[in-house]
Amino acid sequence: MPVTPLREEIKNRVRDEADIVQVIGECVELKRSGARFTGLCPFHAEKTPSFSVNPQGRFFHCFGCGESGDVFSFVMKYYRLSFPEALKELARRYHIDLPESRLSEADRQRIKEREMLYRVNEQAAALYQRYLLESPKAEEARAYLERRGVPAAAVKDFRLGYAPDPGAAGWSFATSHLQGLRLPVTVVEKAGLAVKKERGGYYDRFRDRLLFPIQDMTGQVVAFGGRILGDGQPKYMNSPESPVFNKSRLLFGLYRHREAIRRRRQAIVVEGNFDLLLLAVHGIDNVVAPLGTALTRDHIRLLRGYCDEVVLLFDGDSAGLKAAMRSVPFFLAEQVDARVALLPEGHDPDSLIRDQGAAAVEKLVARSGPLAEFVFDTLARRYGLTLAGKNHIIGELREIVRAGGDSAQRSMMVAHFSDKLGIAPAQFLAGIHEARPPERREEEAGPRRPFPESLSRKQRQLVDFMLLYPEFLEELLAAGGAEVVRETAGMEIIRCLQELTATGPVTPDRLLSALPGESERRYTAELLISGGEESEQEARRLCDELLAWLRTARRRQDGADLMRQINEAQEAGDQDMLMRLLERKLAMGKT
Ligand code: UTP
Ligand code: MN
Repeated sequence: MPVTPLREEIKNRVRDEADIVQVIGECVELKRSGARFTGLCPFHAEKTPSFSVNPQGRFFHCFGCGESGDVFSFVMKYYRLSFPEALKELARRYHIDLPESRLSEADRQRIKEREMLYRVNEQAAALYQRYLLESPKAEEARAYLERRGVPAAAVKDFRLGYAPDPGAAGWSFATSHLQGLRLPVTVVEKAGLAVKKERGGYYDRFRDRLLFPIQDMTGQVVAFGGRILGDGQPKYMNSPESPVFNKSRLLFGLYRHREAIRRRRQAIVVEGNFDLLLLAVHGIDNVVAPLGTALTRDHIRLLRGYCDEVVLLFDGDSAGLKAAMRSVPFFLAEQVDARVALLPEGHDPDSLIRDQGAAAVEKLVARSGPLAEFVFDTLARRYGLTLAGKNHIIGELREIVRAGGDSAQRSMMVAHFSDKLGIAPAQFLAGIHEARPPERREEEAGPRRPFPESLSRKQRQLVDFMLLYPEFLEELLAAGGAEVVRETAGMEIIRCLQELTATGPVTPDRLLSALPGESERRYTAELLISGGEESEQEARRLCDELLAWLRTARRRQDGADLMRQINEAQEAGDQDMLMRLLERKLAMGKT
């Protein structure tokens, strides 16, 4: 889209009118500090605030990650919107008219569709709630809620609804109602409320279900979680994902409870909608629940904007443990303290609080312990801390580490767990804990220069590459890969790689047990954790780069050798030899 003067003018107006402290303050807790405001950066993990907003200059900047910009870039980045969407959103908030024609057709369509999706969901929530509160045919649903200890006030607060049974209200109760409001049925379908029939026409997705409206962080309804009344299957049916609903980035209850969470600096995560509901009914309102999925890194990043501590409240079954294990890397990466509160056998938060009151849940939360500790202790209890037990534990932990996303996260976990196991990070990676032969220990203790420092940048690149991609070893050696690291510690690694390739595949564990020096081992372990994820093509390209470098290095080396011989011939007065060498030198210069 070309930048027209008018567009520039509107942009400036919106930027002037929009209160950047207010806009950012909704996502980040800001504290005044002189003329600026500071808070925890929402774009990278940090514990001490390096994010600052300058209201005079109308911009923000993070001293930690370097992210900066104006109110538009903030809204675009935080809510993942395009520029026109951010402009439109801010203009709406600050009551500035936008000439629609300035947006591209596609942008206009997208904005319109999102607006319609919000409208559809909002109207549906109102319809379903009205039905639950007023219809004689919702008697059973009301009785169900009462039986489960949900008072009328909570029904209203949470805007709970009921989708009637087709026997009572037909198969397209909601679909026709929404169409009657002139909302296009295609949008109703996209929102997940209507399902297309094979032979044409639509019917309601939600039938005879209790509905929990799900709000996004602007407070608008974007989806529903629908629980069947009684024992049918599936127990829950949720709205499918749509342009306004992404369940891995949204937590049930977070919008409602954001202030409570902010106040207490703590969020409690429960598994079920009913758990959240009943806790809230009993006054524990710093609670969220994922929508039937495991916690994602986005969930945790989202929570980080409101609190420093997350308590997972769940029962100790193995599914719960697995889910908790999987979330460890995300908490580490986002630097959010994660704790675990285990429910007594046979209870979920809902039943516990109804049985024993809020105090019982509060006590559990107060006694919660760190998540990583919990994972480790559970495994330690399961396998024991014998050598064999440790091996099992390492096996399971390695799974987590492997699944753990980026290299920084993985290194952090390796550091954490190897510390807990009392082994070196390299051993954690290799799974070796037999004591090393004593003679090697002595060698390690010697005054050798630590491995990486003894290499030049380029030499190190070469050795790194060989370690990560041993499949290219032969090719690189043929091009003089060993000669260029001659007389450095890199030679030891190459020798080791050569031996290994001769006898089988170069796996990390073989490699790490074959490397003699401690510093080489640690270096290699760290390298293997963090690297080696290039595509095959990318690896090939890197190899070609190194080959080109080797060729130049070889030529330079040959040139130096030749010069040395020329000098020697000159000194010895060997004219014949000198002529031959000079000829060679000339020829070399031409290639
Ligand atoms: P639970 O079965 O624990 O839900 O599933 P609950 O809310 O405690 O239900 P009650 O107490 O039996 O009535 C936990 C969450 O997993 C998702 C829902 O979000 C639910 O709240 N879930 C569960 C589904 O998405 N689909 C299902 O079939 C079951
Ligand atoms: Mn439950």
